[in-house]
Amino acid sequence: MAVELASRLTKARLIPILKAIEEPKIIPDNAEVAVVFPIYITSLPIPVRKFAEKLDASKLKYLVGLTTHSGYPGRVGEYLDKLLKDQGRALDAYFDFKMPGNNATGLMPRLMFQKDWEKQLTAKAVRKLEQQMIEDLDEAVELIRGRANNMDQVHLHRGNMLKRMSENITDKVATHSSENMKPNIAYYADDTCNGCGLCERVCPTGQVEMDAGKPRWNKEKPCYACYGCYNHCPEMAIHVKGYEQKSSGTIIQALLSRISFGRENRI
Ligand SMILES: Cc1cc2nc3c(=O)[nH]c(=O)nc-3n(C[C@H](O)[C@H](O)[C@H](O)COP(=O)(O)O)c2cc1C
Ligand code: SF4
Ligand code: SF4
Repeated sequence: MAVELASRLTKARLIPILKAIEEPKIIPDNAEVAVVFPIYITSLPIPVRKFAEKLDASKLKYLVGLTTHSGYPGRVGEYLDKLLKDQGRALDAYFDFKMPGNNATGLMPRLMFQKDWEKQLTAKAVRKLEQQMIEDLDEAVELIRGRANNMDQVHLHRGNMLKRMSENITDKVATHSSENMKPNIAYYADDTCNGCGLCERVCPTGQVEMDAGKPRWNKEKPCYACYGCYNHCPEMAIHVKGYEQKSSGTIIQALLSRISFGRENRI
């Protein structure tokens, strides 16, 4: 999403959040910033929370949040806005985008895991999702180019007081879970692993370590449950114990092989 956004804006520079948070304080020299991240447990992934806390946004001319989710976005726009506001600078705009889910295995109770997902991944369904993503992004880009402020809509509350109260409680529980989670996912690689080391390279925390040509998940290091190792494996060799997919790989791979995001031969 960040790459697609940058490709639609002039002079945009991509800065990985994981790199930015290595600094004690993030003071952007540029006037306009878009924070792009996935929603985890209807809240912020741990590194995004750290980013928001380290960001000195006081001198920014424009600040926008863009999130991806798989259908349950919660109220992350409001939450991020409040977090930044407490530090002196509110969001100007916020957009969320429905994307394919990238996980479920090993983190959710087994009963909640959707089996046979690949049967629902028809080319037609994927094209529809792709078209919608492109339309939503292009619409958001137009608004961003015009430096729009849509926070009134983000904060618009529907429903009665009881519903809002229950939402507030759910939000608090979700935020706590997301920002404090210590996932212990039982990953392993099967015999089709070719030893390429990609899983080690994409892991943001260093938990995946190559050992004699095979990945090892070093539980002394943290895991953000990003499913990067799992989804990037070119051989689809990574599984979660007890949640094995016997078919042709992960949902992301199946989707990426079909999604071009408006460009041919992207993947
Ligand atoms: C740990 C975890 C928690 C997630 N929680 C939610 C959620 O609460 N609501 C939702 O709609 N999607 C959720 N998702 C799905 C992701 O937000 C979605 O697939 C996103 O587009 C993933 O982007 P990424 O592949 O860049 O990480 C979750 C994914 C992970 C890995
Ligand atoms: S990415 Fe896959 S094939 Fe490559 S080392 Fe890791 S498990 Fe093996
Ligand atoms: S899910 Fe995999 S890539 Fe992501 S942090 Fe955990 S071990 Fe690393």
